[in-house]
Amino acid sequence: MKCPKSRLQIPLVASPPSVGCRDCVTTLGQSGARSESPGRCGAAVEDAELTFATNCGIPDSRQRPLIIYINHNDLQSIERYQHILLPAILARFVFYTAINISSRNQRRPEDIMASKFYTVIIGAGGGTGGAVASRFSKAYPVVLLARTAATYESSVKAINDAGGKAIGINADAGDRASLDAAFETIAKELPDYKLAAAIYNASAGLQPRPFVEVDPEALELSINVNIRGFFNFAQKTLPLLEDAVSTSPHPPSLIVTGATASVKGSARFAAFAAGKWAKRALTQSIAREYGPKGVHVAHAVIDGVITGPRTEAFTSVNGGAPDGKISADSIAETYWNLHTQHRSGFTWEVDIRPYVEKW
Ligand SMILES: NC(=O)c1ccc[n+]([C@@H]2O[C@H](COP(=O)([O-])OP(=O)(O)OC[C@H]3O[C@@H](n4cnc5c(N)ncnc54)[C@H](OP(=O)(O)O)[C@@H]3O)[C@@H](O)[C@H]2O)c1
Repeated sequence: MKCPKSRLQIPLVASPPSVGCRDCVTTLGQSGARSESPGRCGAAVEDAELTFATNCGIPDSRQRPLIIYINHNDLQSIERYQHILLPAILARFVFYTAINISSRNQRRPEDIMASKFYTVIIGAGGGTGGAVASRFSKAYPVVLLARTAATYESSVKAINDAGGKAIGINADAGDRASLDAAFETIAKELPDYKLAAAIYNASAGLQPRPFVEVDPEALELSINVNIRGFFNFAQKTLPLLEDAVSTSPHPPSLIVTGATASVKGSARFAAFAAGKWAKRALTQSIAREYGPKGVHVAHAVIDGVITGPRTEAFTSVNGGAPDGKISADSIAETYWNLHTQHRSGFTWEVDIRPYVEKW
């Protein structure tokens, strides 16, 4: 291929490159087909620019261009001595590509896809859990856990259809054997992958009642999901997160979904508040122990109704105001921000509520 301003010959490298000056760029499309943008080659040209699309193992649509600038005064010399200089340019291209791959701090989240880390979400339903899975799937393979396949199936399909990687596995947080089996399956499905983030999102439901009418089973359910289930999940994931500290692109994270009841025992919510409040206490204790090890443990107080299949019927939330429910996607974005925080500035707790929420 040839820059229309020069006689510079560029051999084809790994991916279709572009070559040209700032005013006129010629691009070779896929399979070598040549297409030229209408350049202004008559204009004064000060620099020439070689743009190579690098493929660092990242899927096609996420290729990162590497741009090499050459002063235009050097261009004539390059043309004259191109048989000597071009190998040097290409060597530089290879060198910078290698730097690109190795400089972890500058990598975009998408680049991490090439690394061997994954995220696991337990309680991966069509609301918060599915939204978090979808957000984290932009960077990592994601594993969605719930007791029934119907809970996670549509989220798994949507992520895989969009080009991400998602696996759904049946698991009950309250049952240690079930969790052990799930993580054995993960180890088989994602061999050599390390755990970058674990999200505890399992939900026991509300069942608001006058206190004397609270069924002891509702208390048992709240204890099972919020305390025992989280206890089991945290014991299972924390060693894996700690093992990833030295290599993970972001501090390995354990993020826990709470509710208003995590900090406020409202009337008629006794069983729910007992479980959520205890889960927050457990999370805080773990955060204090694991922060110094480099694992970011964070709790989210979700202070409002979340969008999702479970709340579709709640049309009068906050008087039916637009965005009166918390978008599950916005929670997912906050979780991603927590996960990508630098260790010099960990947030232990966030609270999230709609702009119109009374609190
Ligand atoms: N929805 C709201 O308006 C709201 C408001 C404030 C806070 N929150 C909190 O936000 C979190 C997510 O709520 P969401 O409504 O958006 O739910 P979701 O993400 O749509 O789904 C949560 C899933 O957790 C699973 N689960 C329940 N018990 C489990 C267990 N023992 N082991 C594994 N998975 C279990 C359930 O699926 P299976 O039955 O298949 O296991 C359920 O579908 C919950 O912690 C909830 O308390 C929700």
